[in-house]
Amino acid sequence: MSTLIIPWKLERPLPPFEGGDIRYPEGLVRHFIKTHTKTGDRVFDPFAGHGTTLFVAEDMRRIPYGMEADEQRHAWAAGQLDHWQNMRLGDSAAMGRMNFPKMDFCMTSPPFMPKRDKWNPLYAGNPKFAGYDRYLTRLETIFTCLKPIMKRGAKLVVQVDNLTRGNVFTPLVRDMGTAISQSFTQIDEHIILWKTPRPGYDHTTCLVFTA
Ligand SMILES: C[S@@+](CC[C@H](N)C(=O)[O-])C[C@H]1O[C@@H](n2cnc3c(N)ncnc32)[C@H](O)[C@@H]1O
Repeated sequence: MSTLIIPWKLERPLPPFEGGDIRYPEGLVRHFIKTHTKTGDRVFDPFAGHGTTLFVAEDMRRIPYGMEADEQRHAWAAGQLDHWQNMRLGDSAAMGRMNFPKMDFCMTSPPFMPKRDKWNPLYAGNPKFAGYDRYLTRLETIFTCLKPIMKRGAKLVVQVDNLTRGNVFTPLVRDMGTAISQSFTQIDEHIILWKTPRPGYDHTTCLVFTA
């Protein structure tokens, strides 16, 4: 376990269609890719979002792969990658059918859900799958699908925050860690202090697992 200090600095512009910023900074990804991979390794992100993991991997001469369910984000990120064909559009629960090769490393940040919400971000809010319990079950399923895509002993880094809304605290670091631990073995935890914090958001957590 350790505390790392990383600048909160986004090096790429946000896409024009995006209202809120849901990216992690490039420096965070660079730290973990440097620690856990070498040139030519395959790096995967099953919740690729705006493609930060993939862009940094490509910049560092690793081979990026990813999945993203949102069409606009997928098109925006894939359109700027040399390895654009490695970023697939779709639900990452289907990653086993995408013919991905075995990965050397995975870094990701799943969408976060407060426990009293009904809207489940892993199903784009489909009311049939509402609620925090279904969110955690789906996370468990997705990480179970990830396991066979990872090389044995490969590392997985997951960035996650606990959430506070009013008086309601969601222990997402614990709950997500438990869901992922059904398929992976947790070996470490890092507290990241943002060097230039934004109000109400001065740190995050990165959980490290091995396949
Ligand atoms: C927190 S964002 C990831 C941001 C990313 N780390 C970055 O820096 O750009 C989570 C992403 O997961 C996507 N997502 C949600 N459910 C998904 C699913 N079932 N399969 C694949 N992607 C999904 C969302 O559309 C969102 O873009």
